[in-house]
Amino acid sequence: MAEHGTVVVSGAGTGIGRAVAGRLAAAGCHVTAVGRRPEPLNRLAGELGPQVDPVAADVATEAGAEAVAARVAAAGRGCAGVVAAAGGIPGGRTAGGLAGIRQDWQALFESNVLSAVLLVEALREAIGKASGRVVLVSSVAALRGSGGGGYGAMKAALHAWAYDLARELGPQGGTANVVAPGFVPDTGFWSGRLSAESRQERAAQTLVGREGTPDEVAALIGWLLGPDAGWMTGQVLSPNGGVVLGR
Ligand SMILES: NC(=O)c1ccc[n+]([C@@H]2O[C@H](COP(=O)([O-])OP(=O)(O)OC[C@H]3O[C@@H](n4cnc5c(N)ncnc54)[C@H](OP(=O)(O)O)[C@@H]3O)[C@@H](O)[C@H]2O)c1
Repeated sequence: MAEHGTVVVSGAGTGIGRAVAGRLAAAGCHVTAVGRRPEPLNRLAGELGPQVDPVAADVATEAGAEAVAARVAAAGRGCAGVVAAAGGIPGGRTAGGLAGIRQDWQALFESNVLSAVLLVEALREAIGKASGRVVLVSSVAALRGSGGGGYGAMKAALHAWAYDLARELGPQGGTANVVAPGFVPDTGFWSGRLSAESRQERAAQTLVGREGTPDEVAALIGWLLGPDAGWMTGQVLSPNGGVVLGR
């Protein structure tokens, strides 16, 4: 685990980001826990203790990303890593036709691409100084499509950007990687979107016959932030139960 400086985790209030924050805090790391809603972040900080600093911010906006960077700077620890786990499939389409499609894609872009890009760019100097690690949370949908809509395409954009980041951070001793999980239903991502039957069907599509857990994904992310992963950079790692092979 990252030992020097805080690790900024977006999407830390729920799901995979929460599991990452839990692992990091248990290993003694300082965590800057970011999400839009303060309640889940405050609950997390209450459970995990003072090494978790909750910051309510929308990192798909310049102001939100800058607020996170300002908090990190004020804490004076430096930034050992960023885990960009914020994302998902926002609803809220109000128009039909092409205007509605534009709204959907714009919202997916902001939620999944800009949320990662603005956060990492706001912290870029601090990451560089600390030889920091960047982990972008993508999805198996980037590898096989998402069954319609732009979610998989937006996650795939993170892959090419991670390759550039890896090139840029490498000379400073830093790394950048992508973690592209498969089906992890105990998350906000799937809340209200799964019947018992569809949950079983999706689990059955894997080679191991079961769904993944947030903590299994967090374990891989924790490894990428840790001392044994300094030579792992510019890679897409997909913990997915074998639903997509070769990653
Ligand atoms: N669950 C799966 O099966 C699965 C599979 C592949 C990939 N993923 C990806 O894994 C990542 C984590 O999702 P999850 O499954 O753990 O679902 P989740 O529980 O919904 O986590 C997403 C978190 O991101 C936060 N968030 C969203 N937009 C944000 C923004 N603009 N600024 C700050 N925080 C923001 C949300 O909190 P607020 O609403 O409070 O901001 C939420 O806590 C996502 O990128 C998702 O696309 C999930």
